[in-house]
Amino acid sequence: MKKTSLAIIILLFALPIMAQPSYNIIPAPVSLTPGTGAFEVRNGSVIQVSDAEFGPVAEMLAARLKSSAGYAISVKNGNASKGIVFRKDASLAPEAYKLEITSSRVVATASTGRAAFYALQSILQLMPAAVYGAVPAGTKITIPACQIEDAPRFAYRGLMLDNGRHYFPVADVKRFIDLMAMYKMNMFHWHLTEDQGWRIEIKKYPLLTKVSSIRKESPVGHNRENKFDGKPYGGFYTQDEVREIVAYATARHITVIPEIEMPGHSQAVLAAYPQFGWNADRIYPVRTRWGISEDVLFPREETFRFLEDVLTEVMDLFPGPYIHIGGDECPKTQWKESRFCQDLIKKEGLKDEHELQSWFIRRIDRFITSKGRKLLGWDEILEGGLSPNATVMSWRGVKGGVEAAKQGHDVVMSPNSYFYLDYYQGTPANEPLAIGGNLPLSKCYEFEPDLPELTEAETKHVIGVQANVWTEYIKDQKYAEYMTYPRALALAEVGWSPKRAKDYNAFKQRVIAHLPVLDALGVNYAKTFLKQ
Ligand code: ACM
Repeated sequence: MKKTSLAIIILLFALPIMAQPSYNIIPAPVSLTPGTGAFEVRNGSVIQVSDAEFGPVAEMLAARLKSSAGYAISVKNGNASKGIVFRKDASLAPEAYKLEITSSRVVATASTGRAAFYALQSILQLMPAAVYGAVPAGTKITIPACQIEDAPRFAYRGLMLDNGRHYFPVADVKRFIDLMAMYKMNMFHWHLTEDQGWRIEIKKYPLLTKVSSIRKESPVGHNRENKFDGKPYGGFYTQDEVREIVAYATARHITVIPEIEMPGHSQAVLAAYPQFGWNADRIYPVRTRWGISEDVLFPREETFRFLEDVLTEVMDLFPGPYIHIGGDECPKTQWKESRFCQDLIKKEGLKDEHELQSWFIRRIDRFITSKGRKLLGWDEILEGGLSPNATVMSWRGVKGGVEAAKQGHDVVMSPNSYFYLDYYQGTPANEPLAIGGNLPLSKCYEFEPDLPELTEAETKHVIGVQANVWTEYIKDQKYAEYMTYPRALALAEVGWSPKRAKDYNAFKQRVIAHLPVLDALGVNYAKTFLKQ
């Protein structure tokens, strides 16, 4: 056979495959039934909304088509079954949506603005990737016909960003939020205080920003090398900037959870206010090495007054239900050697320093609960007895989460072995410097929150999952994107998509098909997984 006829035969077989529309949505929806044909969005199209609540979502779609293709799209009240329509159906669950796409209409049905926002994310992902960037002139913007029914598996789908170790400008925090929103994540855990820097303005304690937000220098290379750059490093968010970020996240249906660390990871506080630590006369620097500081807060009355003042301002800025108080990695050496702490342990009838930490957290729990909020803490808050209203974030594997769920507490699963995005995702020699670990994309994807250790009733306490971007080695947003994407796509899918047999290869193919979207947005994602 001649080469040309062979090529024609191959092409004939390949055509139906090539013509197959792409239904590539991450996280995968509950159900998607392909249709035939496609809806074409045209310049001058109208988006109808059956309810004013859907106005902002329709405007977001119009704005994206304007910025990427220059289309003038108007938003009008209406409910006709033609063109693009966001339609209210109060019988749907608050985060559930349906999509009906044919050649003549795109009908998104939802009961809330939040669910309509999720429908919008799916619609955008069905469009050509160029809508996330610049659509070349003459390119048709089509949406392949299909029926989608969708709702999240878990109520809590989170990412944590540590701006304690490294401060990111407001615009970069917004970018982090934008990317989360695309994948239907809804909890932004903002780690704002650390041994190495305090990053939020508190009006009553101005030294927190004047002193605690600046360290003398930062490590160069890995912490174990014990080398420093000799350059002062600082930064903090003013209360106006915090409000701006919270409003920005809220518009994208993301709750911001502030984390104010206590009683450990607080050396920066002591640099400004040494009276809240062991020795009021000591000069504490803001810590420069990464790792865990021995210098911790002491459970004195004046410390609690300080923390309650801080939390009062924090609760004023963050309207969401959760206030994260850290609680992790608090060395007990100083408490062991302190007459004050030992007397307090006796006076309160406590067994040891772990019970003293638990007593500390219980007091804070009472305060937060009295303000109508919920305390969230790392799994160390289990040691010495869990506060009655606490929700536990399980990071040292799933053990803490299992124990908390058995005690009837809500749990967010954030095991380091699956969801610590500061870990290496490939061979260290080929990767930018990271803290350590080995966490390829496949491992993140494989996490299953339904654990055999838990009964069905206990499993209901697992409210969701979270991945964490600790930034000891991650100096800026570009570096953060490399560590976060595509691994956060796996987290998003574990949190949203129904429990089904894991098929990493199929997921990987969908991620590959999705890369043009990340390219259009200029995301600095890691390509490591392509070679794994
Ligand atoms: C943690 O990684 N120390 C919560």
